[in-house]
Amino acid sequence: MIPTPITSHLSAADFETVYEPAEDTFILLDALEQDAELLKGSRVCLEIGSGSGCVSAFLGAICGSSSALYLTTDLNPHACRCTLLTSTRNSVPLNPILTDLTSALLPRLTHQVDILVFNPPYVETEDEEVVEAQKEDGKRIEKSWAGGAGGMRVTNRLLEQVDTLLSDRGLFYLVAVPENKPLAIIADMQARGLEGEVVLKRRAGREHLHVLRFSRPGRTAPP
Ligand SMILES: C[S@@+](CC[C@H](N)C(=O)[O-])C[C@H]1O[C@@H](n2cnc3c(N)ncnc32)[C@H](O)[C@@H]1O
Repeated sequence: MIPTPITSHLSAADFETVYEPAEDTFILLDALEQDAELLKGSRVCLEIGSGSGCVSAFLGAICGSSSALYLTTDLNPHACRCTLLTSTRNSVPLNPILTDLTSALLPRLTHQVDILVFNPPYVETEDEEVVEAQKEDGKRIEKSWAGGAGGMRVTNRLLEQVDTLLSDRGLFYLVAVPENKPLAIIADMQARGLEGEVVLKRRAGREHLHVLRFSRPGRTAPP
């Protein structure tokens, strides 16, 4: 069993503005652990919306701290700082980047990403709420959860980029809830040439969490 990364260096004050690891974070860790053998040998890992940095630190424990490049993005500057602290605390060299989704990275990362991970703001809200939350003007905690119509406003923008980002061996992990219509996401991605499936499901309080995994058809991992 791979230990959950240490986040005890982050305080309650940090978690007023940065997402504290919760059940959605932990189901993602479990899905990654379940796929550990598939993930080993990955060279470029990119996490969108890294928050505390817990998920990417976990990826570092799976893939090795010296054999892969770990890039993370977040729209919240304090999340980027927390990710950096978690990087140091867990001895995994994470590279947090303050940007909207992948804006600062494309087109340079075209077909380069072996592991792409997103635990997005998936909660259904008014669209006005997501517009406010997504403003690049600081540390609003609403950035962590406000998802607009169907909880998909932010996720849909990333889904458009997944085919461009993934390498031939690339795997994309996405957290979703029923309001996001996981099967419709899979159908939508299939129309974009990517295969997808639900790899883990769990009820956590009122939420019914899903982890979806996508890859290119006939994905092959180099030896
Ligand atoms: C549900 S939290 C997940 C945090 C962390 N990955 C975890 O699993 O605990 C969603 C994260 O996405 C970030 N986020 C929201 N919109 C974003 C955007 N447009 N670009 C980058 N990050 C974004 C939020 O600031 C927040 O840190």
